[in-house]
Amino acid sequence: MTIEYREQPRPVGIAQAFRIAADFVGSDSVTLILGDNIFCGGDSFQKAFDTFAGGATIFGYHVTDPERYGVVDFDLSGRALSIEEKPAQPKSSYAVPGLYLDDNEVIQIARDLKPEVRGELEITDVNMEYLRRGRLGVKQLSCGVAWLDAGTSTSLHEASAYVQTIERRQGIKVGCPEEAAFKRGFISLEDLDALTHRLPWCEYRYYLCGVVAEAQSQKARR
Ligand code: G1P
Repeated sequence: MTIEYREQPRPVGIAQAFRIAADFVGSDSVTLILGDNIFCGGDSFQKAFDTFAGGATIFGYHVTDPERYGVVDFDLSGRALSIEEKPAQPKSSYAVPGLYLDDNEVIQIARDLKPEVRGELEITDVNMEYLRRGRLGVKQLSCGVAWLDAGTSTSLHEASAYVQTIERRQGIKVGCPEEAAFKRGFISLEDLDALTHRLPWCEYRYYLCGVVAEAQSQKARR
């Protein structure tokens, strides 16, 4: 996996990402994920990627404080009826998490965008343009998905506590790329072992040693 970073020189809004990354996106569809959003569990995203057929797909997540977020109202078939950024009177309890699937038209939409009230190039305005074109789909995130925010020190602390609870209970790490790559068959057990040996001695390495040992003993029993 190769990760390339590009800097956003000033915080002028999420939608600027599409301008900064336009040549990276090329003529492809694109997924934008916000760095302070944490998702855990469920297969909603995988399903959405597999069935994506153009336009834009956003997600709806039931929350008690929708006014803090982009808020989407949608009908039973998943067609968006309205989307608003931090409305004082939300039309629904469904917040829009920071994970957006867009076809290539998003590049031009982002180029044409004008800064909004907050002085930012709002991602909600991108989604509103797709809504205007009748091409905004909404998928409800199932109850099994945890969407956590890490944008404030309190929410980061809450997210850590949640992840720690799940990890302690199950003995399985949340967000371990080496293990995920192995479980999905992208790398072999030998690759996983080699990657583990390159890590410094720390909790993370001990954990991966356990994953390798468990996989080796499963292999031996087969
Ligand atoms: C941004 C988006 C908002 C979205 C939220 C998700 O808000 O503008 O629509 O619901 O991320 O975390 P911000 O974090 O910039 O306040």
